[in-house]
Amino acid sequence: MDNTALINDFTGEIHSCTDLAGLYNIKVKYLGKKGVITDLNKQLSAIPADERPAAGAEINKLRLAFEELFNTKQTELKSAERNAKLANECIDVTMPAAPAPLGHLHPVYQIYDEIVDIFGAMGFSVATGPEAELDLYNFTMLNMPKGHPARDMQDTFYISEDVVLRTHTSPVQVRTMLNKKPPVRIIAPGKVYRSDHDSTHSPMFHQVEGLLVDKNISLSDLKGTLQLFVHLMFGDDIPTRFRSSYFPFTEPSMEVDMGCVICKGAGCRVCKSSGWLEIGGSGMVAPEVLAAVGIDSLVYSGFAFGMGMERIAMLKYGIDDLRLFFENRLEFIEQF
Ligand code: DAH
Repeated sequence: MDNTALINDFTGEIHSCTDLAGLYNIKVKYLGKKGVITDLNKQLSAIPADERPAAGAEINKLRLAFEELFNTKQTELKSAERNAKLANECIDVTMPAAPAPLGHLHPVYQIYDEIVDIFGAMGFSVATGPEAELDLYNFTMLNMPKGHPARDMQDTFYISEDVVLRTHTSPVQVRTMLNKKPPVRIIAPGKVYRSDHDSTHSPMFHQVEGLLVDKNISLSDLKGTLQLFVHLMFGDDIPTRFRSSYFPFTEPSMEVDMGCVICKGAGCRVCKSSGWLEIGGSGMVAPEVLAAVGIDSLVYSGFAFGMGMERIAMLKYGIDDLRLFFENRLEFIEQF
């Protein structure tokens, strides 16, 4: 029995086979129930009986050889398939990640941080108070008892008879002095609320309060402190000016102006040709306020100030419309 042609056919087909599906077809064709080897076995009956065992053994050898070839090829193809799959699925951990959109500080809060840094360097720590505040702290203990005409200057959101949305950060002065004996040196940045809404007023805005109480504190300390603040925030070439004014909680009281950052004093639209821009109120803490928190005004004196943060941000960044701060348009916010 010459099987050379059969062997050549089988090995040829196995060698040129490149995928497992093809390989299984070959197995069926040669080793399957109706395959070539089975056919050969069937033909055994046509062979003389004495030659049959040898021929049968021959066929068996052939089947074993085919099976071995098949198994080797199968292992080879399986591992190739697996490698290809692995190569396909592999993750390149060195690949740069898709950039995730990063959050960004609102310009008012960039100014907030700068203010905290500047006063922090002068030894002021940050104090806070609630935005829903007692009428007592927001007004009464700041020398504005019920019925005081100065209450009308601040359009107040009342939550109840005794609780308001704080109209300024000044109640933090009261809270601080109730809790700590002098020396006191704090700033109180935060949100304040007034029932007022137009192109230059927002119902919510930000102020920063300052308070320093100690022995021998005078008006010149106040002026020097605010002058240094303006220099550090806007530049050494920007002057300050103090105009006498009135606040119930300070005596004397002064409005704080700084030289116009836009025209440097020459006169422009922003400073209404005056060369000066108002940035806040200030004064020496009124004896009535000190008395209300139990501080002896014959021993201690102090100064206080309050500034609008949106105002400072507008002047610092050259923004001419207050409303831009509250519209939350990313095209605007992302510029800072
Ligand atoms: N609280 C005042 C306001 O909102 C601003 C202010 C003026 C605060 C004078 C002060 C001050 O501490 O001394 O209009």
